[in-house]
Amino acid sequence: MTNELTPAGLRRLAEDFRARHRPDRVRALLVAGSGLEFEVPGWQAGETIPFGDIFPFPIQTLKGHSETLTLWRRREETLLVMNGRLHLYQGYRPEEVVAPVRLAALLGAEMMIATNATGAADPAITPGSIVVITDHLNLQGRNPLVGPWAREFGTQFPDMSRAYDPELIEVARRAASAAGFEVFEGVYAGVLGPSFETPAEVRMLRGLGASVIGMSTVPEVIAARHMGLRVVALSLATNPAAGITAEPLSHEDVLEAGKAAAGRLRELVRRLVEELIPDQS
Ligand code: HPA
Repeated sequence: MTNELTPAGLRRLAEDFRARHRPDRVRALLVAGSGLEFEVPGWQAGETIPFGDIFPFPIQTLKGHSETLTLWRRREETLLVMNGRLHLYQGYRPEEVVAPVRLAALLGAEMMIATNATGAADPAITPGSIVVITDHLNLQGRNPLVGPWAREFGTQFPDMSRAYDPELIEVARRAASAAGFEVFEGVYAGVLGPSFETPAEVRMLRGLGASVIGMSTVPEVIAARHMGLRVVALSLATNPAAGITAEPLSHEDVLEAGKAAAGRLRELVRRLVEELIPDQS
């Protein structure tokens, strides 16, 4: 039922979630892009809930497993971890794509740490590099805030001038340097997909200032900022974008490169969580 994702409906969803899962103080939402798995010492992975058991709209199941939300716990604190996300290119409506972010916000999350996979439009960004996203281009032709103004969630025309939190970007920069590897910083061009770009489109995006290109993240960031969450987003550049090399793109290559470089991203996320949500005990 579409009206379930109204502010009132989402509030009921959050209350229901709270009653069922009894999260302690929710500190942050960590969005693990497809295939990425994270762990942070001190945090115990608790129950894992399929999205289908939380949200009032059909969730597509791919190869028998669906997106889930895991509650990580550390004494009186909870971290919500999204294993996989919903994409516009799957046909989900923008308000469905951002429902997990809004749920996290209603449960009290102060911050969203997002990860994703991208193609590099900047030839200097080699496959396997990590890019700290500093800004985005919304080229998805959608915005999750379109529709009657949900004033309970935030202002009608939210500022996006510092969507990616400068302080958190600095923390990510320092965490990478402490881990001993270089990260790039750059602009994420969010496209609709699911086809990869043509070489002409990549040249255009490069001209528009894109460093990397992906098919996710932008709606979640807009919804998170709307509700006042601080945002940091890390991208794994899995391939040179189309036309940068002579190689055609394949989803398998993207997944393969993602796996190969995931270790450093895991390390960076671990350090980031440790820095951003220090253990007070
Ligand atoms: N383009 C868009 N999205 C992507 C790419 C790409 O080249 N690689 C991984 N996600």
